[in-house]
Amino acid sequence: MASSLDALSALCKRRGFIYHSSEIYGGMPGFWDYGPLGCELKQNVKQAWWQFTVRGREDVAGLDATIIMHPKIWKASGHLDTFADPMTMCKQCKKLMRADQIDDIRAELGKKAAAVNPAFALSCPHCGGEMTEPKPFNLMFKTVVGPIDDPSNVAYLRPETAQAIFAQFQNVTATSRMAVPYGIAQMGKSFRNEVTPRNYTFRSREFEQMELEFFIRPDEAVEILHGHVVTLADNPDLNGPVQDDWGWEVWHKYWVEQRKKFLNAVGLPTEHFVEYWQKPDELAHYARACVDIEYDFPFGRQELEGIAARSDFDLSQHQKWSGESQMVFDDPLKQAAKKMDDAARAAFVEKTQKAWAERAAATGKDAVAAVAAAEKFCQNLFDGKYVPHVIEPSAGVDRLMLALLCEAYEEQKLTDEKGKEDIRTVLHFSPKVAPVKVAIFPLIKKDPDQDRIARDIFRKLQKKVNCQWDVSGAIGRRYRRQDEAGTPWCITVDAQTVADGTFTVRERDSMEQKRMTYGEFLAMMYDALEF
Ligand code: GAP
Repeated sequence: MASSLDALSALCKRRGFIYHSSEIYGGMPGFWDYGPLGCELKQNVKQAWWQFTVRGREDVAGLDATIIMHPKIWKASGHLDTFADPMTMCKQCKKLMRADQIDDIRAELGKKAAAVNPAFALSCPHCGGEMTEPKPFNLMFKTVVGPIDDPSNVAYLRPETAQAIFAQFQNVTATSRMAVPYGIAQMGKSFRNEVTPRNYTFRSREFEQMELEFFIRPDEAVEILHGHVVTLADNPDLNGPVQDDWGWEVWHKYWVEQRKKFLNAVGLPTEHFVEYWQKPDELAHYARACVDIEYDFPFGRQELEGIAARSDFDLSQHQKWSGESQMVFDDPLKQAAKKMDDAARAAFVEKTQKAWAERAAATGKDAVAAVAAAEKFCQNLFDGKYVPHVIEPSAGVDRLMLALLCEAYEEQKLTDEKGKEDIRTVLHFSPKVAPVKVAIFPLIKKDPDQDRIARDIFRKLQKKVNCQWDVSGAIGRRYRRQDEAGTPWCITVDAQTVADGTFTVRERDSMEQKRMTYGEFLAMMYDALEF
């Protein structure tokens, strides 16, 4: 595992994983490019997520929406009014910082940090100068759509992929023929004008997200359908098939477990991350629960991804701002409600009103309005209609890539038979995400038979997975080059291959070599790549 970002970022630059964006012009803080190995790693991470989240399930559909959307979307979502960080500037050295990160910056600077000046409410960690009063700074990048630079044409680069899913919820529901509970997934670029992009690619201004909005019935609908709602106290089996009588709490925990399984599958062992359950006072006002999966990065324990139970907040907001209904019609619910007699319905309404009034009182909202809303909500449920609630597992591609690089990195001290010490730098990627799966070498490059057979294997394998061809230098040096790229298998074609068709397969982590036929190798490789 990488103990500092310095050695890792040097390897990433040297081997073509990550470069500064626009480097020849001095770079741009918060913007990064992925080189030949980095873009393969990225493709694999995204493909793995898509396979695990969409294709490998029956209840999730995909979406690929635009980056620039109608600006009202960001009004409805709350991003225009509240998606801001507290920004402060040093009056002396003019450096801009996030007010809530000043202590972290001071800790990072260590001995180089300026002493805290008690005369100022906030003093600059760089020079000790006085900082300005923190002001909210909206993180969305603004642009203008069309040729006229006028406030009426202002639009924003999306700061998350999630909102497009809500905005297209009715279209996807109508065309995918899926019914709640079901999810819509999207991967793609997001943009945030971070005040202080830091820690390599961890906090970037342009990055990619992989988000799932999994829509579920409100618990009240589950109760009408099943006469009960399964909660975590019932100890449900979260590893088996999903169940129709689960309440939001179970769905939320189910997705936390799914995300942990995914992280394990792509190479992060459970012992290296933690589940942080946000405390009630840390939750957004509409959220019922939120879990951050935190990873021990070399710069400290930080959020890798989050899984939030967001109630019906998002779809309700879009219903309000667009004037378009975001309700679904749930026929099994209507049929179940039909079976309730008047007394059962009245008792159900009364119970719901009481629960909503209590919740409103606990969160400082209008209890009378909550009682009226509960009545309307129940009448809609009896007609089989509701605005779905949502569970949102939201992950960053770049942040996961950084975690995978940190996890994979190792400098091994090796001693050869002659007692000579050497350092082997190796990236222990899971084969599922490794940028290059197989490297193929003829042992003796000038041997025409070895060259022909090795090229033939290379061409055949190239049609299946990403391969590299390497004939330069001694075989040991070729292995080391592949170790630094994280290639799990190297195939060497030698004189015996010419005689019997078998070749040696050198495994990256154990450095063991085995003779195999092409068929044996393919079976072993596919087994390791399967989800
Ligand atoms: N839709 C919910 C949402 O966007 P978030 O916690 O703001 O939630 C989700 O972002 C994930 O996106 C984070 O856990 C992280 O992996 C990634 N992410 C957020 N901001 C990022 C940034 N500036 N640079 C890189 N990744 C970021």
